[in-house]
Amino acid sequence: MKQFKRTTVTSALPYANGPVHIGHLAGVYIPADIYVRYLRLKGEEVLFVGGSDEHGVPITIKAKKEGVTPQDIVDRYHGIIKQSFEDFGITFDIYSRTSSPTHRQLASDIFKTIEQKGGFVEKTSEQYYDETAQQFLADRYITGKCPHCANENAYGDQCEACGTSLNPTDLINPKSAISGSVPVMRETKHWYLPLDQHEAWLRQWILEEHKEWKANVYGQCKSWLDMGLQPRAVSRDLDWGIPVPVSGAEGKVLYVWFDAPIGYISNTKELLPDSWEKWWKDEDTRLLHFIGKDNIVFHCIVFPAVLKAEGSYILPDNVPGNEFLNLEGDKISTSRNWAVWLHEYLVDFPGKQDVLRYVLTANAPETKDNDFTWKDFQARNNNELVAIFGNFINRAMVLTQKYFDNKVPNIGELTDYDRTTLKEFEDVKTNVEKLLDTFRFRDAQKEAMTLARIGNKYLADTEPWKLAKTDMDRVATIMHISLQIAANLAIAFEPFLPFSSAKLRTMLGMTSFKWSDLGKLDILSSGTELGSAELLFDKIEDETVALQVQKLLDTKKANEAENHKASPVKENVAFEDFQKMDIRVGTVLDCQKVPKADKLLQFRIADGLQDRTILSGIAQHYPNPEELIGTQVCFIANFEPRKLRGVMSEGMILSAEDADGKLILIQPKNTVTNGSQVG
Ligand code: 2FM
Ligand code: ZN
Repeated sequence: MKQFKRTTVTSALPYANGPVHIGHLAGVYIPADIYVRYLRLKGEEVLFVGGSDEHGVPITIKAKKEGVTPQDIVDRYHGIIKQSFEDFGITFDIYSRTSSPTHRQLASDIFKTIEQKGGFVEKTSEQYYDETAQQFLADRYITGKCPHCANENAYGDQCEACGTSLNPTDLINPKSAISGSVPVMRETKHWYLPLDQHEAWLRQWILEEHKEWKANVYGQCKSWLDMGLQPRAVSRDLDWGIPVPVSGAEGKVLYVWFDAPIGYISNTKELLPDSWEKWWKDEDTRLLHFIGKDNIVFHCIVFPAVLKAEGSYILPDNVPGNEFLNLEGDKISTSRNWAVWLHEYLVDFPGKQDVLRYVLTANAPETKDNDFTWKDFQARNNNELVAIFGNFINRAMVLTQKYFDNKVPNIGELTDYDRTTLKEFEDVKTNVEKLLDTFRFRDAQKEAMTLARIGNKYLADTEPWKLAKTDMDRVATIMHISLQIAANLAIAFEPFLPFSSAKLRTMLGMTSFKWSDLGKLDILSSGTELGSAELLFDKIEDETVALQVQKLLDTKKANEAENHKASPVKENVAFEDFQKMDIRVGTVLDCQKVPKADKLLQFRIADGLQDRTILSGIAQHYPNPEELIGTQVCFIANFEPRKLRGVMSEGMILSAEDADGKLILIQPKNTVTNGSQVG
């Protein structure tokens, strides 16, 4: 393995369009912070770079919704996010932002260098343009009917009702979300990074030379590479972002995923204007990107290709990407307010940053998505932090106070039992290191916790309070060893629980500490005066977590109420227009699932004239379609026939969509003659 001189650690720049929540902390910022603190404790040269990602379409959409400027939005959230990270002890060397002048300059320079080297391909294509607003429309700014589920409010990149990824041109009746007008197609030129030309070296670099990357990261890269890489546009028609710095690019900005990762470099430059290059251009620097799984392709494929095309930067040595954290069984969602927001947590649990850090690490989504529940939060606090860690420290402190005037007593002769205890304890350092070195933070924390378990067991087995009457020398040895274990805990937990570790160090009178002391038995010298004993952790009561659960239930209810709100009534239609629709009743003669189409049912309907076939996307709501045979349904008889999955569908069957998305067929209560008109 190559020996590096220093390490640059980056953690994904969160979008400044909302506050940060537990998912961010668990997936990216806590692991990065643990790792950085560990390196610093080892005395290594390390730089930890963070910042806010302040460009991109979602920020402009939020600004428009609120009637403010995008700059107002990012100013607001950059401050909130930065504060949350500080509050949770995330020790960035710099936390800046991509709207900074240094960033704008560097991102432009990198673009220009690549452009001058011929590293981009310019291509003209047709994209939707809003003639009223006089601007090209980002995919999110186009709405229309989903061709798959008929949802009227699908976006140009995705239908949120059925989850299908879309292209804007897939939408039926597209509309501009800005002016409401019908967009037209217009030619526009963009700069593309020809990833296809980078594929060969990327394959070699990742698949052959970085087999040690985490399986989830490596696997995702492999599947992208195996699918074959396509050129990616690195510019956009948008009025928020960094202008494309070449002539003929008026109205165009750099794509947010082109400029955001450059933010790591520009923030370093802002912090260290004279020495930033050694952190980014020196082969002896090890570069690590901590990210969530949705960022893998950008950090493992796109950004390395940008750096390679520029030519003077190092590439990441590792990209420890995590999966996602869910909350009480549901995906965390900003728009549904389904999250535990960091700034709100601190109002409800003041001073309990470490409890959240502990629980999020114990349950980190390192290899698969994981779930955060308030019950687990309470259990880990009460059964682990309070009952094991806190209990051991408290006993060690109180007994020292009681028997040794609050000073570290002398150590006497060791018994065999002492030696066995110390042996177990020696391995902990090596084990924790091995796990931290391979980014397995949850196991590393678990292993560090064994120190507290060892300490608790040692006190329980040796029972110094019983020996106090007969053998104070032995009690002195036991307490000396216990206090050394406590000092070891203060060191081992500094990366994980920095606030508690600092408190513990004050309690133990430790003025300095370093990682290399871990595993040693002489961290505290005999005679050292201890500080006053304080509780490191306290119990979290049922009522407290019940309040949090209630808060989430309230959110759920509010969301349901929102979903139940009937959608606004559409524009009026004239009677003649209504009459154009020929709605009729028919009897279902046959009804079956369409092979290989999850959603489609094929109906044969007796319509009073001749029978007809109609396909309908309701299969998921009627798992036993044969039960519909013999019942009557309503259908639009003059709906333009269209071919679906090779079958001609002659009409549209009517159903109502319930608040939870369930489709229910409209069926007459009493049987009527087939072909009866509905009106
Ligand atoms: O997914 C996100 O939240 C992005 N803002 C991450 C950007 S990471 C980096 F490239 F800046
Ligand atoms: Zn859809």
